[in-house]
Amino acid sequence: MSEVTTFSATVSATTRNGILVVTIDNPPVNATSADVRLGLSRALAHAEAGGAISGLVITGAGKTFIGGADIKEFGKPPVEPMLPDVIETIEALSKPVVAALNGAALGGGLEVALACHYRIASPTAQLGLPEVKLGIVPGAGGTQRLPRLIGIPAAIELIASGRITKAGEALSLGIVDEIAETDLIDVAIDAAQKLVGTPLRRTGELAIASADPAEIEKVSAKLLAKARGQKAPAEAVRLIASSHRPLGEGLADERATFLALRESPEAAALRHVFFAERETSKIAGLEGVEARQVNTIGICGLGLMGSGIAVAALGAGYTVIGLDQTPEAAEKGRERIIGLLERNLASGRLDRAGFDAQTARLSVTATDADLAPCDLVIEAVFDDLDVKIDLFRRLDKAIRSDAILATNTSYLNPDEIAAATQHPGRVLGLHFFSPAHLMRLLEVVRCKETAPDVLATSLNVAKRLRKLPVVTGVTEGFIGNRIFSAYRREAEFLLEDGALPHDIDAALEDYGFPMGLFAVYDMAGLEIAWARRKRQAATRDPSERYVEIADRLCEAGRLGQKSGRGWYAYPDGKRTVDPEVTAIIEAERTKKHITPRSFSQEEIEQRLLGAMAAEGEALLAEGIAARASDIDLVMINGYGFPTHKGGPMFAKG
Ligand code: 3HC
Repeated sequence: MSEVTTFSATVSATTRNGILVVTIDNPPVNATSADVRLGLSRALAHAEAGGAISGLVITGAGKTFIGGADIKEFGKPPVEPMLPDVIETIEALSKPVVAALNGAALGGGLEVALACHYRIASPTAQLGLPEVKLGIVPGAGGTQRLPRLIGIPAAIELIASGRITKAGEALSLGIVDEIAETDLIDVAIDAAQKLVGTPLRRTGELAIASADPAEIEKVSAKLLAKARGQKAPAEAVRLIASSHRPLGEGLADERATFLALRESPEAAALRHVFFAERETSKIAGLEGVEARQVNTIGICGLGLMGSGIAVAALGAGYTVIGLDQTPEAAEKGRERIIGLLERNLASGRLDRAGFDAQTARLSVTATDADLAPCDLVIEAVFDDLDVKIDLFRRLDKAIRSDAILATNTSYLNPDEIAAATQHPGRVLGLHFFSPAHLMRLLEVVRCKETAPDVLATSLNVAKRLRKLPVVTGVTEGFIGNRIFSAYRREAEFLLEDGALPHDIDAALEDYGFPMGLFAVYDMAGLEIAWARRKRQAATRDPSERYVEIADRLCEAGRLGQKSGRGWYAYPDGKRTVDPEVTAIIEAERTKKHITPRSFSQEEIEQRLLGAMAAEGEALLAEGIAARASDIDLVMINGYGFPTHKGGPMFAKG
């Protein structure tokens, strides 16, 4: 092996058998920052000019090939050379260039690879053009070169969804030419040597396979329906569908579209969410704290929530012991869990071997002592303080003293539950959202006494469960339900002041929520909140504004969709505006001498956003939420706030 040639601080190379092996080493993810682009262009010039060099291999150091363009450079003045120019040089090089994909090749990283003359992936490599998830389209040839390799429908499916593929699928689609079964670099050098002197396969010169317009339309329509009005997926579809035109024309259009979208509010919001997700697990005081090992998880209460948590835990490879009050209830719980796993099997989410492995790791019981092997026990029983305290006292005796105890309460005070145990340091809240096996958000409630390693362990478990954990302090409703309550209160004020449920819902849906607030209420049922309001009635501050409309609805038997009527009527199951609800609202306004006025859609949006943001500020001031971006993540992942608006704290500016 030759000595190392350095092209820039992040790009260097060695030469083996006449092949220049160029390595990009730009931690953490080898993003194509200005220094990487400079190093690559120098390496390409060096190879082109060097008589002793007959070909190139490009690879990445560490576990990533190239994670994409450097998102942190977005918004800063451009620094030459630009990525499309480097990529064009790769494709045009007179000597063979082989991409050795040692790990994730995403965005600009895959675009570099697409311009190489041959692509070899390690079996663990992941490939994708996830730009639409950042509100942009690929900006360095992805929308023009990928269809030349795999056809227009498959390229639309990948790019407009931003989906990541694994090496095996990439091979069958034709994105990569080979998967290295032995040492990746050795295989890549061999491949480069074999290409020397042969006509090079330049992706940009390939003809695009003809595709049925109906198929293109079908794939696009499906993806765009999911995009909820976001611009980037539609632009990606347009660029790919028109990739038949000369390469230069397509590339110029792609670049202009990329640059314009990059400056859009949508892209700024999605970048905010990207960094917020990475920031949220950085918790002050946990640096250097060693987490405990968790292999077996106990779940108490095998109703809807407990079963969902069990499915998530089984899917993550944990052994699960479910506990319910009687052997019959435990068996019912087991059946419910198996039912959910069967659904995963039927939908293809789980294969037969996975199903068998997961069911083998599940047992159920009605005896507390059977939870003894658990490293973590999560309770998901009825949300009543006495019930939970009684259970925690029993669990405290039944499980090892170093095992962790978590409560899934939504509204109770977990400090009070912890105080009932001998070891409050091992207690915390894990607030799952329903359905727990599908919803990504997990509020991790740090109690007064929670030990740092208990918190660190729970964050690790959450990640293994493929959840997005957001740490919250103790307050009624934690981060999400506190904000949700404030937003609901404001929506009810709007009702009294002159808006109608469908006006508010239309404004929310237009903003990007999948469903309006009152439609969600009807779906969830109105009686639980009604019972809570009745409980709170005695302690409610009489000087506080209280809207009674929901109470009137419940008293009239309008308990939501299940009872056939709620905030709306449901003749034939279809949601419709009900004059009876309008009459109830009008009667309440008259009772309070409120003269109704009309509200524009924008005004409704602003009032609701304002209420959410104000409550968010209160949570920050109280130290319940560590940072504004955590609040955004909670509202996006638990309450339908549109991702491309960045969350209430970001949206308020
Ligand atoms: N630019 C700048 N920083 C990036 C980055 C990027 N493209 N991708 C990741 N990072 C940073 C993260 O912010 C994080 O920083 P931190 O340690 O300070 O919090 C660090 O790298 C590690 O990231 P992860 O925690 O996500 O690491 P993982 O190992 O879990 O995942 C990954 C690695 C799969 C590469 C993942 O980071 C990822 O998906 N990155 C984004 C991929 C992407 O969207 N690429 C497209 C970019 S746009 C583009 O390429 C435009 C082009 O078409 C011109």
